[in-house]
Amino acid sequence: MRIAFFDSGIGGITVLHEAMKKLPDEDFLYFADTLHVPYGTKSLTEVNQYVKESVGTIMQEEIKALVVACNTGTSAAINELRSLYTIPIIGMEPAVKPAVERSLEEGRRVLVFATPLTLSQSKYADLVARVDDHSIVDSLPLPELVEYCENLNFDRQEIGNYFKRKLGHLDLGQYGTVVLGCTHYPFYKEILKEILPTHLELIDGSRGTVNRLIDRLREQGLQGTHGTNDIKFMCSNEDPAYLDKMERALAFLRNR
Ligand code: DGL
Repeated sequence: MRIAFFDSGIGGITVLHEAMKKLPDEDFLYFADTLHVPYGTKSLTEVNQYVKESVGTIMQEEIKALVVACNTGTSAAINELRSLYTIPIIGMEPAVKPAVERSLEEGRRVLVFATPLTLSQSKYADLVARVDDHSIVDSLPLPELVEYCENLNFDRQEIGNYFKRKLGHLDLGQYGTVVLGCTHYPFYKEILKEILPTHLELIDGSRGTVNRLIDRLREQGLQGTHGTNDIKFMCSNEDPAYLDKMERALAFLRNR
């Protein structure tokens, strides 16, 4: 049986890519909700509905675990999903805790990039309230980056200028870590590193999420032994061109 990964679009492929490196004996299913991408600029009610519909479709397949490889979708529906299905369901949230720990050591602040919907949710406010005792966490929504990514636009100049526009008003020297709190954003790690001061560390949730997935598979005795990292790509509008796009996005991550 496969392990399913789900996102609004190609963002979750950054997490799938991490899982493929750590789980060579597993096969995967990747589902993108192409009918409704992007999620981050829509309402909570809409996204909650879209996530449940997509996961309903995914659950028709033979899968043994589900990774909601989408911070926005996790924030909108993870509790309901867990009450609806019995297989392990792993969600994602911006990696604020490790970022705060790291930045505090250096006497610096944390900057969280995520979608507008993720940042406006009480789930995010609660997370920050739990871990940010010294009020060092700032946040910045980057909705346009999801659009660039969905167009497979990795143009250094254009995206670099976009970051410069978005970050121009900030004193970046005060930050020690930047949290990539949307799974589309790690596609731009290299471009970001060129723009940001060299001391700044980029943190995303992929590694932690895959480690949690591995723990859950182990706990439930669900580890694969015969898989070959075969991937079945699916999308809600069943567009063959998008299936090809997902393959190209994965190839981009593998070749960089
Ligand atoms: N990749 C998603 C996330 O991690 C959602 C991006 C979007 O659809 O706006 O938040």
